[in-house]
Amino acid sequence: MKVNVAGLGRVSSAILYNLKDKVEIGYILSRDKQKAQKFVGEIGKGIAVDYSDNFKFKGILFVGFSDSIIPKAPKLLKRFVDGSIFAVHFSGFYSSSIFPPDWNPSSIHPNCPVATKEANFNDVVFGIEGNIEIAKEIVSLLNGKYFIIPENSKSLYHLAAVLMSNFSHALIFLAERLYDVGGIEKNNFHYVMESLIGNTIKNIKNNGVVNSITGPVVRKDMDIIKSEREIFCKNFPKYCQLYDIFVHIISSMKEEK
Ligand SMILES: NC(=O)c1ccc[n+]([C@@H]2O[C@H](COP(=O)([O-])OP(=O)(O)OC[C@H]3O[C@@H](n4cnc5c(N)ncnc54)[C@H](OP(=O)(O)O)[C@@H]3O)[C@@H](O)[C@H]2O)c1
Repeated sequence: MKVNVAGLGRVSSAILYNLKDKVEIGYILSRDKQKAQKFVGEIGKGIAVDYSDNFKFKGILFVGFSDSIIPKAPKLLKRFVDGSIFAVHFSGFYSSSIFPPDWNPSSIHPNCPVATKEANFNDVVFGIEGNIEIAKEIVSLLNGKYFIIPENSKSLYHLAAVLMSNFSHALIFLAERLYDVGGIEKNNFHYVMESLIGNTIKNIKNNGVVNSITGPVVRKDMDIIKSEREIFCKNFPKYCQLYDIFVHIISSMKEEK
């Protein structure tokens, strides 16, 4: 299997780094040739190119562009494509059909934050669609797991990931601020977070989302709900409504129980 890359970002470099001893590596295309050359030096394979070079991709092409650039990929990469390639992108939002059909496209979206090339994909669950055979092969080389997303549901799938990962991250940011406001020592903050979120996940896995909800709203501790609303709105006046919305959502979950 020969793998090429267009756009050397966090995900494409991490995936290539993980595959470097398992596949042949062709062209590594970046706007910044020095960055590509440095990466080629690090993995000891591949040919660094930029957009002024003349070459054609052959085999698998990882398109590592950010989501705002992916729709422009066909135009940006057209002159480097000749004959059959298998284009793969990593977006959770866009489906593979954003690429031309003759690129045999697929998408493999890792459900984990990828910050550096050293990221590990062992047991990471990928949402895949498009050319499933190619997608499965790559995920398997990365020792990941996969499930197939209906092509038309990519944006719903991605929004669900944003809610679970980014929005909960924002709530943890607010929680940490309350520790600061209260002068509560933070040496144990990470353990508290791990215990609360870890056990929530465990409970949800065992009993489902709706049956696992706990806390003052479920217990109908009205005095606590009211007094914590005041604290929330005093500390986060711009987000005061957020408290009411969460109470509302939890109350509606209770009704579904
Ligand atoms: N990071 C994550 O945690 C994560 C997790 C799951 C999925 N994803 C998905 O993975 C994909 C890549 O994300 P990423 O975090 O790796 O992004 P990134 O680190 O920002 O890299 C994106 C790359 O796109 C290229 N690019 C940006 N603007 C460009 C332009 N105007 N013209 C041509 N190329 C341009 C750049 O490559 P060059 O500088 O080499 O030209 C850049 O390094 C996205 O679809 C994202 O949704 C990301």
